[in-house]
Amino acid sequence: MRKDGATIQAMFGDIAPRYDLLNHLLSLNIDKRWRRRTVKLSAPQGPVLDVCTGTGDLAAEFARATNRKVVGVDFCGPMLVHGREKKSCRDVHFVRGDALALPLPSDAYDVVSVAFGIRNVADLDAGLRELVRVTKPGGRVAVLEFTMPPSRMWRAMYGFYFGRVLPFVGNVVTRSKAYTYLNKSVMEWTTKEELARRLKEAGCEKVDVHPLTGGVAAIHLGTKS
Ligand SMILES: C[S@@+](CC[C@H](N)C(=O)[O-])C[C@H]1O[C@@H](n2cnc3c(N)ncnc32)[C@H](O)[C@@H]1O
Repeated sequence: MRKDGATIQAMFGDIAPRYDLLNHLLSLNIDKRWRRRTVKLSAPQGPVLDVCTGTGDLAAEFARATNRKVVGVDFCGPMLVHGREKKSCRDVHFVRGDALALPLPSDAYDVVSVAFGIRNVADLDAGLRELVRVTKPGGRVAVLEFTMPPSRMWRAMYGFYFGRVLPFVGNVVTRSKAYTYLNKSVMEWTTKEELARRLKEAGCEKVDVHPLTGGVAAIHLGTKS
């Protein structure tokens, strides 16, 4: 599946005006609960960076919980424009940048998070290494992402939802093919075990996996050595 930066940027640029609406509608607001859980499990003690921040929902959640400014990086201009307009994101400092070459210093952040973003990055291992690079030694890398659920019943629901509901509603509302891509990217995405292994290879000494909602998503929490 083609995941070059220019194509991904253009795709998110197309859906940016409707992104938040569809996100909450299509997830029945469960995504909000998942973001809060990510913040809680990450337990930040210092500066936080949210990569592939989009319109900034996870960064805003970190800012609210920590009472401090949070940096949010994304390479898609229109997503950042919408994020900057949101009242909930007043404590998010949005920066345009590529997850594969973050314009930020090494060993700087206590928590580096990414929600539903790393799956879209052209080179997964290079992206994970960048997340780890900017994390302080002893700090955490938190990855919130969809995962294939273990039980047959949840898997059938997952397939129906991502194969039928999401592309149909998403493509109609945004009048684009972006949600067909999103379906494919989720179906071809790596397993929880494989992601944990690759996070370790990228420089995390320990990775805890927290499945969410029957295993349809998970938080991988890695600690940098
Ligand atoms: C599905 S959205 C997730 C946005 C946000 N994290 C959330 O949870 O709503 C994926 C985001 O990743 C961004 N993205 C994908 N590849 C990227 C890269 N290489 N560098 C920076 N941002 C990237 C896209 O522009 C998009 O805003």
